[in-house]
Amino acid sequence: MTVDDATVVLGIETSCDETAAAVVMGGNDVLSSVVATQIEEHARFGGVVPEIASRAHVEALTPVIDEAISRANVSFDRIDAVAATVGPGLIGALLVGVSAAKSIALALEVPFVGVNHLEAHLYAALLDDPNVEFPMLVALVSGGNTLLVDVQGHGNYRIVGQTIDDAAGEAFDKVARFLELGHPGGPAIDRIAKTGDDDAIDFPRAMLHDGLDLSFSGLKTAVVNHVRKHPEVSTADVAASFQRAVVDVLVAKATAAARSCGSRTIALGGGVAANSLLRAEMESACAQAGWRLVLPSREMCTDNAAMIASAGWYRLRSDGASPQSSGALPNLKLTDSIPR
Ligand code: KG4
Repeated sequence: MTVDDATVVLGIETSCDETAAAVVMGGNDVLSSVVATQIEEHARFGGVVPEIASRAHVEALTPVIDEAISRANVSFDRIDAVAATVGPGLIGALLVGVSAAKSIALALEVPFVGVNHLEAHLYAALLDDPNVEFPMLVALVSGGNTLLVDVQGHGNYRIVGQTIDDAAGEAFDKVARFLELGHPGGPAIDRIAKTGDDDAIDFPRAMLHDGLDLSFSGLKTAVVNHVRKHPEVSTADVAASFQRAVVDVLVAKATAAARSCGSRTIALGGGVAANSLLRAEMESACAQAGWRLVLPSREMCTDNAAMIASAGWYRLRSDGASPQSSGALPNLKLTDSIPR
């Protein structure tokens, strides 16, 4: 099939705790994007419970797809392809979206496209700014990943740095749980940090000048040790100082990675890219270096289906459809290829 500016893709995302559907035309024109979050359902457990996630996706997916179609003001026969996240993610959760997408594609007699969730986070940066030039350094910072990716072109990626232990979002979530700020921790720490002194505690910046890899588990332990030793410490000061340490490392590593790849454009992706301090500090670092910063809107940083439809459009154009025999690939890596 011809894939062009008029090609409309229905995207479906169910890899973790957001049930999302979106309609995107021509790879970048978002006609609708609907996200139903399960945060409340998991909150009392302090993290995502896989079985609850799968069941919640089953309940939410049909109304979310209907809403996406209706907000896009299109009918199902205007859909040219259906894209869904095949991985990485929770297997039961992924299967809900993959099965729905394959069924809709079969019924509409249009192609199904399996999408790598991590690749889709890279495409979120392009949704607001499709004319961005390559090479581009993407800092993909989410709950499950912290990757520095040298993007040379569509589908042409090289991971130049990554966390050797916890992902940045995981560190936010674990520290927030320890400070009893609730789940997910990132937004809670972001909020309370605004009232604290980020200079109050000098938390470690691990591996700051040591290559392009990152490490956050020592920082989390340092927070725990500090609070146990100083139980009277202000929670806002701890949150602000912790956030400052994470952001210092992310900005230093992303700019060093861009320099080493000869890239004059940096893009942020993943849930942690919604962090106010990270956005502000990356803006000033890029302005200082004379580089371009691509900052997706906060809605496009966290899990959504517009980025899935967008990545699906690019994959359909370059590689064609995925087979109906496609399944979920829970351990998929950014550079793994998906069977076509
Ligand atoms: O990309 P995402 O929605 O899901 C995946 O992990 O794929 O990212 C979720 C992560 C969580 O760890 C959450 O705490 C973090 O992103 N996050 C934030 C903020 N908003 C979400 N971290 C720091 N500051 C924020 N404002």
